[in-house]
Amino acid sequence: MLELCVCIGSSCHIKGAYNLIQTFQQLIEEKGLHDRIDFKSSFCMRQCQNPGVAVSVDGQIHHVTGGGGVDFFHKEVEARLEGGGPRTV
Ligand code: FES
Repeated sequence: MLELCVCIGSSCHIKGAYNLIQTFQQLIEEKGLHDRIDFKSSFCMRQCQNPGVAVSVDGQIHHVTGGGGVDFFHKEVEARLEGGGPRTV
């Protein structure tokens, strides 16, 4: 089970956490990944100074900016599910 966690602290909320959650939820549903991804939200991850919304994948923190949610999901989440680690392309 992969843990995917989106920060919903106030700074990340302003930077688009709500939209990102919607995007991830939609992708998880479309791809039928409910039983493979433990999708959560968290209060401030102490990453407010960084650009974008703080997202952790199995404890590793990333920052997702603008409309990058779909790309991020493909590269960091689906790639890990396939067992190949993050994609470098
Ligand atoms: S509010 Fe998201 S890291 Fe602080």
